[in-house]
Amino acid sequence: MSDRIELDAPDLGAVEKQYLNAAVDGGYVSTFGPWIGDFEHRFAGFVGVERAVAVQSGTAALHMALYVSGIKAGDEVILPSTTFAATLHAVMYVGATPVIVDVDRATWCLSPTAFSAAVSKRTKAVIPVHLYGNVCDMTSINAIAASKGIIVIEDATESLGATLNGQQAGTLGDIGCYSFNGNKLMTTGSGGMIVTKDLKILDRLVYLINQANPREGIEGYNEMGFNYRMPNLNAALGMAQLNRVNGFLKLKRSFHQIYETQLGGDGACILQKAYSGANPSWWFTAVLLKDAGEASRLGKRLKEFEIPSREIFRPLHTFAYAKGFRRTGCDNAEMIYQRGLCLPSSTLNDEETVRHICAVIKKVLV
Ligand SMILES: Cc1ncc(COP(=O)(O)O)c(C=O)c1O
Repeated sequence: MSDRIELDAPDLGAVEKQYLNAAVDGGYVSTFGPWIGDFEHRFAGFVGVERAVAVQSGTAALHMALYVSGIKAGDEVILPSTTFAATLHAVMYVGATPVIVDVDRATWCLSPTAFSAAVSKRTKAVIPVHLYGNVCDMTSINAIAASKGIIVIEDATESLGATLNGQQAGTLGDIGCYSFNGNKLMTTGSGGMIVTKDLKILDRLVYLINQANPREGIEGYNEMGFNYRMPNLNAALGMAQLNRVNGFLKLKRSFHQIYETQLGGDGACILQKAYSGANPSWWFTAVLLKDAGEASRLGKRLKEFEIPSREIFRPLHTFAYAKGFRRTGCDNAEMIYQRGLCLPSSTLNDEETVRHICAVIKKVLV
């Protein structure tokens, strides 16, 4: 069993140190250097696309995906209420109106029915969020979006490695955004990646994230740019983590399987359900308890056993500055927030530790 139980701490080792040292020794620590292109190339291969563009965070990836899609003031962007604040903030950065809708009760991901009900003449984009590594019902979401001419920007920040019918999350819509924040499946410290099949968009992204500087064949400084390039240091870390990402995925899925077997079924907890054809990455395993009281009691009791846990994302429509953005009832998002709890999911833990956590949960819940 691991000495200390970690909630979502990164799994870093000798290879990470070696690659970081190589970046320092090479003198390229900032936004120019050999690891960046290599990392983009290897990452693109991992998710099965031709090219990818690295940026400084998942938030920057979402911001740029919306920006490069021409989303602006007056446009509406539909997103689920259960997600991290960054999804909402990216929409606000481009001046568009966020339209917050409910999630599905079983999968906790954007409800296609709620999405469809919220579409208006001003809807320009939708952001399905593959929550905790589960995959949204992209077949229904893409069909609704295609019928209305809506751009699909996947928030795949939590779902690297998850697949739907064998295809990687983040490559199922028009543009996909990933995060390599410290608590994600793999980390670059802070970082993100953007993918799309449209290579012209990727060319434009490379230009925009580099302050719209002049580049070979491009005049430059004709419009506002951004400083969102990923530094070489972070890319070096990313390359080391990519070597290990399949091992991380295997562990996350096996942790989830143990939690499901021990706590789900007829047990005390309800876990997120996957759509048919989906193979979630289960970046985080989270559970629903009987009611809000039990969820908060369990969190407190686990602390006594030095087992960390975390609340589910507070629904966006309850944020003071986002109250006016809700378009459908968000009962599921509220229920999941009240009754939910995220359980230790770091790959620094081992399977024995997860079994121990399950035993403690069963003990304190009776
Ligand atoms: C759903 C979701 N969207 C966006 C982000 C933003 O990613 P980053 O922290 O890399 O900016 C995160 C994670 O942090 C996230 O969980």
